[in-house]
Amino acid sequence: TATPVTVTVTGAAGQIGYALLFRIASGQMLGPDTPVRLRLLEIPQGVKAAEGTAMELDDCAFPLLAGIDITDDARAGFDGTNVALLVGARPRTKGMERADLLEANGGIFKPQGEAINAVAADDVRVLVVGNPANTNALITSANAPDVPADRFTAMTRLDHNRALTQVARRAGVPVDEVRRLTIWGNHSATQYPDLFHVEVGGAPAPALVEDESWLLDDFVPTVATRGAAIIEARGASSAASAANAAVDHVRDWVQGTREGDWTSAGIVSDGSYGVPEGLVSSFPVTSRGGAWEIVQGLEIGDLSRERIDRSVAELVEERDAVRELGLV
Ligand code: NAI
Repeated sequence: TATPVTVTVTGAAGQIGYALLFRIASGQMLGPDTPVRLRLLEIPQGVKAAEGTAMELDDCAFPLLAGIDITDDARAGFDGTNVALLVGARPRTKGMERADLLEANGGIFKPQGEAINAVAADDVRVLVVGNPANTNALITSANAPDVPADRFTAMTRLDHNRALTQVARRAGVPVDEVRRLTIWGNHSATQYPDLFHVEVGGAPAPALVEDESWLLDDFVPTVATRGAAIIEARGASSAASAANAAVDHVRDWVQGTREGDWTSAGIVSDGSYGVPEGLVSSFPVTSRGGAWEIVQGLEIGDLSRERIDRSVAELVEERDAVRELGLV
């Protein structure tokens, strides 16, 4: 039988963790032939709840689940890990300025980066879900200098999936027929969901961008503020859909994106599309052989340029702020 892949989930006792762990253990992330060993990393107050979740995982009798370890120690949590899903983060509380938020999260992601650097497996792949995800990924990567920067990614797949459904509704087609959509920039309200290259049913779909008032006053804000709309309706933030997006992200990263399509992920910029090198920004990406590649050569019109630049400017500000704090 195959050797189990070690998957670490931080914030395992949180609501995304609860929706995520069962999907991973059932094989939906790494495929039906890959056994997984789960590592649940929590803060001390979260350990007991994580133990409860582990009991439920036991009770599922998942054939692929090779074992579960629970810890509040980052070194133990990332020891030999192949896939690290960094979900646990410090949420913004009332009256908190952005600098405070970045600093509080630096206190989590800097030591986690150091631990990954010291003890993770050579092939470690990291997905940061906890917000502010792009800049948390940058902090983690900066503190893991021995791990190639392209192993650190931030999740914009939920935004991507949200946008796919909005487009499918608009076009009146099953969601599976919508391809080549892109989320650019930061996973924040400034993100830019780009429909200029979208194909519907295998053909270009100019109608989607011709109605500028739908595009800019309906579609873009619907996608960018969907998280708030979920909180308003559900009384709690997106959890199952966020977990689903994390599964999609890692599955596509490891197993490859489908032919003729691409997806969106926050990855370290190589300077493509004028995004300053080193920033963790969302791009159109494909994956082959376990590595993301930025889709090249897309024409970027004035409208898209302005929106991308605005979101990237926010990433630059966040990077400058964490630089000043000595986190990167
Ligand atoms: P939650 O509050 O239910 O759970 C967070 C868990 O993280 C808690 O159990 C907490 O004890 C744990 N935690 C805190 N600090 C930790 C540390 N240093 N090490 C290990 N665990 C730690 O939050 P929820 O709903 O699960 O969301 C988690 C994060 O995901 C939030 O930052 C949220 O903003 C973000 N998020 C990101 C999305 C994206 O698209 N990138 C979508 C939805 C949520």
